[in-house]
Amino acid sequence: MKAGIVGATGYGGIELLRLLNNHPQITSITLYSSSQAGEKFEDIYPQFQGEQTHILQDLVPDMMKEDLDVIFLATPAGVSSQLTPKLQGGHAKIIDLSGDLRIKDASLYEQWYNKGAAPNEVLEKAVYGLPEWNKERIQDADVIANPGCFPTAALLGLGPLVKEGLVKADSIIVDAKSGVSGAGKNPNPLTHFAHAQENFQIYKVNRHQHIPEIEQQLSEWYSDIDPVTFSTHLVPMTRGIMATIYVQLNKNLTEDELRNTFERYYTTEPFVRVREEGSFPCTKDVYGSNYCDIGLTIDTRTKRVTIVSVIDNLLKGAASQAVQNMNLIFQYEEKTGLSPLPVYP
Ligand SMILES: NC(=O)c1ccc[n+]([C@@H]2O[C@H](COP(=O)([O-])OP(=O)(O)OC[C@H]3O[C@@H](n4cnc5c(N)ncnc54)[C@H](OP(=O)(O)O)[C@@H]3O)[C@@H](O)[C@H]2O)c1
Repeated sequence: MKAGIVGATGYGGIELLRLLNNHPQITSITLYSSSQAGEKFEDIYPQFQGEQTHILQDLVPDMMKEDLDVIFLATPAGVSSQLTPKLQGGHAKIIDLSGDLRIKDASLYEQWYNKGAAPNEVLEKAVYGLPEWNKERIQDADVIANPGCFPTAALLGLGPLVKEGLVKADSIIVDAKSGVSGAGKNPNPLTHFAHAQENFQIYKVNRHQHIPEIEQQLSEWYSDIDPVTFSTHLVPMTRGIMATIYVQLNKNLTEDELRNTFERYYTTEPFVRVREEGSFPCTKDVYGSNYCDIGLTIDTRTKRVTIVSVIDNLLKGAASQAVQNMNLIFQYEEKTGLSPLPVYP
């Protein structure tokens, strides 16, 4: 199968190349660049030197959509809203890692991203690619909106309780932390080493662009859900996300009942691991893997549930989740090419 990666020189694109390179169904990978076409990828990233070399290509949508079987868009917000209409309607399936196709309401996208939205007909076709919750629709999709990194951690942590209607609608607080690779390869004042190292900083308070994405999915599960409080913090580590989630239940549950609710949804899911009572995951438990690890407990004094959900932002939060979606679309076993256990320490 022939794959193309647009934005291959970015952090998400690099991880896609690494994963697709080890995927048994992929026979060729073409890398595209908007700024470095003609250059050899392995000259820019010598750590990728191996049996194959890749010359970065110019984007030619008319050719790409017929020659390729699957196209990954690992580009900044505002690119795939323009590019997807040109890539649609051919042979290739499209998997977009950016936020451009995730929000169904175009005006909401424009409000939170401060950019023009994709055409409505593209938004209508795009299927939200959270495999644990949307498998059947993903299998039939031509265009996938791969979820954001924070939403992946938050939604996998919240899904079972919200879907079961067990959460007080106005009680959800998601306190999330991310490593600096979440901001992509170009440094900025927030992610500059001298600022970020030995520092811990909250950012985009009440205005992070992942808020509408989280609320959109929560209200699909439970239509009366209220807006959520969602905070993001930058942690001086390269990769990893921890979402610590607090919710108030609308009925009393024991620890066993709480855990059983999660296990009902996730025991058959290969990439979600729910911890035993008293055990909570840390980001290194999923580093370099497609896993989402979840720990949870009830505080009997406050009646509040604490859920801890961790992922690798570049993998389950981006590239490996995109490959998981590709596997579902092409009816390969869901774990194909995604078997590595986490890297530790
Ligand atoms: N980093 C994460 O943890 C993470 C997690 C989930 C989702 N995402 C999303 O995934 C997307 C990629 O993120 P990233 O971290 O890989 O970003 P990145 O490191 O900044 O890379 C983005 C790449 O996009 C290419 N690009 C820039 N402008 C372009 C244009 N006008 N047309 C085509 N390509 C263009 C650039 O490559 P060329 O200059 O070579 O074209 C660049 O290397 C973003 O939308 C991000 O929000 C990222």
